Amino acid sequence: MTKAMLSFSRSISCVVTVVAIAFATNAPAQEPSSSVPMADSDNPVQRGLYLATAGNCMACHTKEGGEPFAGGIAFHTDFGIIYSTNITSDDTAGIGGWTEDQFIRAMHEGKAADGSNLYPAFPYPSFTKVSEQDLKDLFAFLESVAPSTYSPPENEMGFPFNQRGLMGVWNALYLENERFELDESQTEQWNRGAYLVQGLGHCGTCHTPRNALGGLQSEQALSGGTYNDKVDEDKIRPWSAVNLTSASDGLAAWSEDDLTSYLKTGHGGMGGTFGPMNEVITMSTSQLSESDVRAMAVYLKSLPPIERAPQHKMSDADFRAGELLYTIHCGTCHLPTGLGDPSIGPAVAGSSVVQAEDPASLINVIIYGAEVPAPSPPGAWKTMEAFGDKLDDDEIALLSTYLRSNWGNRGGAVTEADVGKQR
Ligand code: HEC
Ligand code: HEC
Ligand code: HEC
Repeated sequence: MTKAMLSFSRSISCVVTVVAIAFATNAPAQEPSSSVPMADSDNPVQRGLYLATAGNCMACHTKEGGEPFAGGIAFHTDFGIIYSTNITSDDTAGIGGWTEDQFIRAMHEGKAADGSNLYPAFPYPSFTKVSEQDLKDLFAFLESVAPSTYSPPENEMGFPFNQRGLMGVWNALYLENERFELDESQTEQWNRGAYLVQGLGHCGTCHTPRNALGGLQSEQALSGGTYNDKVDEDKIRPWSAVNLTSASDGLAAWSEDDLTSYLKTGHGGMGGTFGPMNEVITMSTSQLSESDVRAMAVYLKSLPPIERAPQHKMSDADFRAGELLYTIHCGTCHLPTGLGDPSIGPAVAGSSVVQAEDPASLINVIIYGAEVPAPSPPGAWKTMEAFGDKLDDDEIALLSTYLRSNWGNRGGAVTEADVGKQR
C-alpha cells in the first residue's frame, strides 16, 4: 500500500444534492408527527424506513433529479471518483436479487454480492455495529422501494486503487467487524444513544480523526475530523467536523437540551445549523423520534473530554486589532461578551466551531456566512451574512485568532494561508 492511500474517506465529498425536505414536510419538530416512521412499529418495512432515516441512506444514494435510492452520487476521493450504487429493489440494477445474508454481509463487512470489497466511502466501518435484526428490517424496507433500472456511471479510479482487493488489506487493518455491545453499567437510554451515534448515525465518519491511511482513530473517537464538501466540478471546500466530546473546545458548553434541540430542530442554545450538518439534520436526525434524539444527546454528553485545540497567546497589539474588527463587524449579533443572544445569534464564546483544531469551518462561516436550510427551522436565527468580500484574508485570520484567544476559548493561531485555502 502506498502513501497515496492516505485519507481514504477523509476526502469523500458528498455532493449535497438532496433538498432539505424535512422542515417543509413535517409538523413543527417538537411535536410527534404521524409522518415520522416509528422505530417500534409492528411492520418491518416501517421499522426499516425509520432505520434508513437514521442511517441517512437516502442522502448518499439519491442524486439530484434521480429516483430515490437509485444511486449515482459522485464521491471524490484522493484516489478517484466512486459512485454510490443503486440500492432499489430492481433485480439487476439494484439489490432486488440479493439475499438477506448478502445485504447483512455488505453492511457488516463491506462486501458486494459477489464477495468483492466495497470502498469505505460507504460507511460500513460504522454500519458494522448495527444489529442483525435491524439490518433485516432495513433490507425489508429496501426491497419495498420502487425498482429503478438506473445504473450509476463506472467508478473512475486509476491503478492500483481500482483493485478492490486492496481494500481487503485496509479492512484487516481498520475494520472492527463487531456488533454494538450493551454496556450494562449504563442506562437503556445511554445505550440506545451510543448505538445510534456509533452505528447507523455514522457521526464518526466525519467527526472522528483519521490516520494517514484513512482509518478511523477509535481511541480519539468523535474528537473532531475533516469533511471535504464538493462545491463544483473541480472545487473542494474542507470543513472541520467539530469535537463532539465534552472538552472545552468541544461540546462542554452545550446542555443536553441544547444538543437535543439542535439535532431535532436545527436550532439549539449553542448553535444553529449550517454547512454539512444541514443535510444530516434535515434528512436524518430531525426525522427521528424525540426520545431517540435525546438518547443521542445523553450519550454524546457522557463522552469523556478529549482536548484537541491548543492554547494560543496573542500579542496585545494583535489582540486589540482583532477586538476592533470584532466590534465593527460581529459584536452587534454575537455581543461583546461573545455569549450571543437567543433571538439574534449563537455564542462564539465556548463554540466548538470557533475552537476546532482545524479552523476550516470557522473561516467558512466568516467567508461564506451561515447557510441555513430553506425553509429555515422553526424559531431559527436569521442567516448570517457573508464577509468574504468585506474582509481581506489577513483580517479574517486576525479576527479568527482573536475569537480563539478571547473569553477562555482555545485554538491555535489562524494564518492568512489557512484563510486562502478556503477561498
Ligand atoms: C456517506 C455516504 C453513504 C451513506 C450514508 C450510505 N451509503 Fe451505501 N454506499 C455508498 C457508496 C459510495 C457506495 C459504493 C461503494 C463502492 O462502490 O465500493 C455504497 C454502496 C452500498 C451498498 C453496496 C451495493 C452494491 O451494489 O454493491 C449497499 C448495500 C449500501 N450502500 C447500502 C446502504 C444503506 C442501507 C445505507 C443506509 C443505512 C447506506 N448505504 C448509506 C455511500 C453511502
Ligand atoms: C457529512 C459529515 C458529517 C456527519 C455525518 C455528521 N456531522 Fe456533525 N458536523 C459536521 C461539520 C462539518 C460540522 C461543523 C460545521 C457545521 O455545523 O456544519 C459539524 C458540526 C456539528 C455540531 C456542532 C454545531 C455547532 O454549530 O457548533 C454538532 C453538535 C454535530 N455536528 C453533531 C453531529 C452528530 C450527532 C452526528 C451524527 C448523527 C453528526 N454530527 C454527523 C459534519 C458532519
Ligand atoms: C446579523 C447578525 C450577525 C453578524 C453581524 C455576525 N453573525 Fe455570526 N452568526 C449569526 C447567526 C444568526 C449565526 C447562526 C446561524 C445558524 O446556523 O442558524 C451565526 C453563526 C456564527 C458562527 C458559528 C457558531 C457556532 O458554534 O455554530 C460563528 C463562528 C460566527 N457566527 C462568527 C461571526 C463573526 C466572526 C462575525 C463577524 C465577522 C459574525 N459572526 C457576524 C449572526 C451574525
